[in-house]
Amino acid sequence: MIGPMRDEMLDSVHKSLNTGRRLDLSGVLYGMPHGPSGLDPTLPADAAPKSYYYFLAGFVREMGCRRILELGTHMGGSARALDRGFSEPFRGDELIVTIDPGRLAVPILSSHPRIRMIHGLGEREDAVQEALRLFGNKPIDLLFLDSLHEFDTALQQFALYTTLFSPKYVLLDDIALNPEMRRFWAVLCQRYGPFAMNLSEISDQIQGPDPGFGFVYLPGPATAPARASGRQDEPRP
Ligand SMILES: C[S@@+](CC[C@H](N)C(=O)[O-])C[C@H]1O[C@@H](n2cnc3c(N)ncnc32)[C@H](O)[C@@H]1O
Repeated sequence: MIGPMRDEMLDSVHKSLNTGRRLDLSGVLYGMPHGPSGLDPTLPADAAPKSYYYFLAGFVREMGCRRILELGTHMGGSARALDRGFSEPFRGDELIVTIDPGRLAVPILSSHPRIRMIHGLGEREDAVQEALRLFGNKPIDLLFLDSLHEFDTALQQFALYTTLFSPKYVLLDDIALNPEMRRFWAVLCQRYGPFAMNLSEISDQIQGPDPGFGFVYLPGPATAPARASGRQDEPRP
C-alpha cells in the first residue's frame, strides 16, 4: 500500500507543478520582505509571484481543494495564490481561512469574497474557536502551515490543526529554514515516514533546499483505502 500511495503523492506533486505554471497569478505578490531580524521595508520587494505560490495554486486545482486553512497570512500573497487555484465557475462553498496576529493583509483581503482573516496567534483558543466556527466544525481539505518558524509553535500548530480540522493534505513552508524547523520536520518524518516529503528534494521549482517545503498526506477514515475497505492490517499514515 505504501508504494502506490507514495507514487500517488509524487504524481500529484508533478501535476500540481504543471497546472500551477499555467495559472494566472498576476498581481499576487509577497509584499514587504522579511530580513534576518523580522520585517524589513528597506529590502527590495519581489516583483513576481513566489515560485511556491504557483505550486499552491496548482495543488488546489489538481486536488480539488475547497476548504483551506492557512497559518501565517503576512500580506495575503499565499492566500490569494491558493484562491487562484479554485476552479471557475465557483461552487459557492470555497473558503480560505487565514490566521495571523498581524494586520498587514487587512487592506488587501478584507473584502475578498472567499478569504476570511482571523487576527491572533494560531495556537490560541480564540483563533481555534473562530476557525472551527467558520468551517462549521467540519473537516478541511488542506492545511498550509507558514507561521512562526520555531519548533514549539510549529509542532503545537501542526498537532492542533491536524487533530481538530482533519485535513487530507498539509503543506509546510520553511521546513529547513533553521535548526528548530529542521527538528520539527524530523518529528513529522519520524511519525509519517514515506507520507512526509520534502518537495525541495523532488523539484527545484517550489522552494530551494533551504528553506525547504513539506508535504504530508493524511488520508482520513473516509478516504484511506486501507480503512475504507475494512482492512485494519495495512500500514497507514
Ligand atoms: C513567512 S510569513 C507568512 C507568509 C505568507 N504565508 C506568504 O507566503 O505570503 C509568517 C507570518 O506568520 C505570522 N505569525 C507569527 N506567529 C504566528 C502565530 N503564532 N500564529 C499565526 N501566525 C503567526 C507572522 O505575523 C507572519 O505574517
